[in-house]
Amino acid sequence: MSEWHKSDWRKKPRVQMPDYTDAAALAAVEEKLSAYPPLVFAGEARRLKRELGAASRGEAFLLQGGDCAEAFDQFSANAIRDTFKVMLQMAMVLTYGAKVPVIKVGRIAGQFAKPRSAPTETVNGVELPSYRGDIINELDFSPEARIPNPGKMLQAYTQAAATLNLLRAFSTGGYADVHQVHAWTLGFTKGEKAERYREMAARISDTLDFMRAAGIDSDNAPTLRTVDVYTSHEGLLLEYEEALCRLDTTSGKWLAGSGHMLWIGDRTRQPDGAHVEFLRGVLNPVGLKCGPTMTTEDLKTLLATLNPENEPGRLTLIARFGAGKVGEHLSRLIKTVREEGANVTWVCDPMHGNTIKAASGYKTRPFESVLREVQEFFAVHRAEGTIPGGVHFEMTGQDVTECTGGVYAVTDDSLSDRYHTACDPRLNASQSLELAFLVAEELSGFRQARANAQAV
Ligand code: PEP
Ligand code: CO
Repeated sequence: MSEWHKSDWRKKPRVQMPDYTDAAALAAVEEKLSAYPPLVFAGEARRLKRELGAASRGEAFLLQGGDCAEAFDQFSANAIRDTFKVMLQMAMVLTYGAKVPVIKVGRIAGQFAKPRSAPTETVNGVELPSYRGDIINELDFSPEARIPNPGKMLQAYTQAAATLNLLRAFSTGGYADVHQVHAWTLGFTKGEKAERYREMAARISDTLDFMRAAGIDSDNAPTLRTVDVYTSHEGLLLEYEEALCRLDTTSGKWLAGSGHMLWIGDRTRQPDGAHVEFLRGVLNPVGLKCGPTMTTEDLKTLLATLNPENEPGRLTLIARFGAGKVGEHLSRLIKTVREEGANVTWVCDPMHGNTIKAASGYKTRPFESVLREVQEFFAVHRAEGTIPGGVHFEMTGQDVTECTGGVYAVTDDSLSDRYHTACDPRLNASQSLELAFLVAEELSGFRQARANAQAV
């Protein structure tokens, strides 16, 4: 493939990006950010890439999740801690249930820019530019709030840095020690699955007691004491991404320094567009959202452009078709990947194809559809003999009512109780746990069937 430079995307057609009106202010921000330290390091991105390669072979499983959009006014240590707790709980359910290492990747510390279905929004006859995430403009419905302000990139960087700092402390400072398995439970999680989690935690504690008696504990087995947590976001606002791009002197390649893994959204994956151009050149693992409109031809071009060396773990295809549509589209794309002999990690995002508008006007997702899409994803991989490599969710540790259904039985009418998302509806902690148990069952069934098939 051709040479690459971090600013080449500027020559390509761009979509879903703001038109900044103050060029001088934008240039000043870009210059500042270019001098700031990167948030992540090349060695970490390479390690995640190796782990995602393992997931593509069925030797690990990706759990990717977090907010649809991080927000400046919801930034707090407690919110980060609670999201982290839910991730740890879900990861434990998967590790214990399917006996497979779980790669933990947050939609966090950089998930600020949003693609929108329409460039403007009309309320009571007033039309204004759409809200595009806190890194670009503000949710408030006023003309001033909706003007893209490049200065917000600096605030996003600061929030991302502080978030990552806390995550690094949580993951290595004792909080994520497996002996804390009981302490990750959030007070408000209820229902049968919360009870199941407590039972599982009791069994894990029992095993740990046995291991301690046999001489293995957190002091001499550091993997019991710490976890690796990675960050990810959609690589949408390319001025921000370019400003944080750094040359890795070890490999001579370029690192997107804003997060470990970046993905390309379903609306910005034009093979000849700016987003693909930027992401093809960075060394990080890259995700590609695949919705129902992904054509076979485009996928072929994207496989070659984004992973010309066919490196395992480099490219994760995040399928988001909607319940009822997986059979048709996933099988179609698997066929293309097979024909091209491409190494990819298949991941299921059961959120973005299942968004509906409730009668009350709230954007929501029926938990039933989310579960169903996950089941369909596993069923297609079983039928095709390919590997389900992970899941991608929008969830939060907060006790919100944004998706309907689940053990808590959030209804259309109760959506307004605690609807806090700045963008898409997220699973709350109870729904996330319920989903983790379902994924663990599907995954362990899949692994069992595969082991049996290999044994004969
Ligand atoms: C998202 O992940 O928040 C998103 C907008 O996804 P997609 O590009 O799949 O619609
Ligand atoms: Co979303």
